[in-house]
Amino acid sequence: MSIRKVGVLGCGLMGSGIAEVAVKAGFDTVVREVNQELLDKGMGRIRGSLDKAVEKGKLAAADRDAALARLRGTTEFSDLADRDLIVEAIVENVEEKAKVYAAVGAVAGEDVILASNTSSLTVTQLAMASKRPDRFVGLHFFNPVPVMKLVEVVRTLMTDDAVVTDVNEFCRAIGKDPVQCRDNSGFIVNRLLVPYLLDAIRALEEGVGTVEDIDKAMQLGCGYPMGPFTLLDFVGLDTTYYIANIMFDEYREKRFAPPPLLKQMVQAGRYGRKSGRGFYDHARK
Ligand code: CAA
Ligand code: NAD
Repeated sequence: MSIRKVGVLGCGLMGSGIAEVAVKAGFDTVVREVNQELLDKGMGRIRGSLDKAVEKGKLAAADRDAALARLRGTTEFSDLADRDLIVEAIVENVEEKAKVYAAVGAVAGEDVILASNTSSLTVTQLAMASKRPDRFVGLHFFNPVPVMKLVEVVRTLMTDDAVVTDVNEFCRAIGKDPVQCRDNSGFIVNRLLVPYLLDAIRALEEGVGTVEDIDKAMQLGCGYPMGPFTLLDFVGLDTTYYIANIMFDEYREKRFAPPPLLKQMVQAGRYGRKSGRGFYDHARK
């Protein structure tokens, strides 16, 4: 495998998780955020998660220290110049993603593999925006990244075979179990999961049950680890709203349409766990 040095764009919920699993698996990793404050927050999340693993006896303190020594945070694109693989995990917005690919393209080497953690945009449009479509692939991780074993690997008509081989090997090297997906908006998981989550909101709008009872019903009745509203708060209502809009735009099917309540929650700044309030009040926990 040609991948030794990893770069991560964005140190939010997903970028911090991806950087964490990469350094834990021994990869030298640089993570880039837009400003120092957000970088400090994201790096703090990684340190906190590794500390928790040590507390729980899942990771030796020396291995945590070695992992942290392999991790570097930056706000400069130029620090990504020597990376073999760069995984983009910034906001779910095609214009923003295209801007960072242009900035990366200006500094990165010819052979760099560029991957997007997009949930719902087609990898083809991102690959074209990157201007190096043969070296571009989708690597869709799941939240929380340190726990969820799956990565959806998404190739396009243009992706080099060697790139697909290398990223699959990288996924296995960081302890993940990859599946191969066609480049359809939402791939496998979100094509099935997003209509379910949106339908839970519609059920709430229609008064079928309360937030708590709908969650309890799906946990106790179906054995789901989290009810849909706990999961929505966990994923982020802002991110879910962006995903729903993108998937609705792609398929024009009602099951992907964002319900009015979701839009209002986002307009009200209730993004879920990340903002302290979503369908649940997380500030009190
Ligand atoms: N980082 C590291 N480890 C974590 C963690 C985190 N953020 N959160 C939980 N864990 C670990 C805990 O330490 C615990 O480990 P041990 O059993 O070894 O002690 C284990 O996970 C279970 O955690 P808890 O006992 O605290 O809680 P739980 O049993 O409810 O599990 C969960 C937590 C794994 C998150 C579980 O609730 C779950 O699987 N939820 C569903 C998550 C899901 O569906 N994710 C996909 C979201 S969709 C997506 O990601 C795609 C997209 O594009 C939007
Ligand atoms: P988030 O809001 O937690 O984090 C996004 C981060 O990207 C923010 O910290 C933001 O400052 C940063 N950012 C924005 N522009 C940037 C730039 N130009 N350079 C570097 N950083 C920049 O969002 P998230 O949940 O981590 O989602 C990130 C990506 O992962 C999205 O494409 C999303 O669809 C996808 N995803 C999310 C989940 C989930 O459960 N939340 C799961 C799988 C995939």
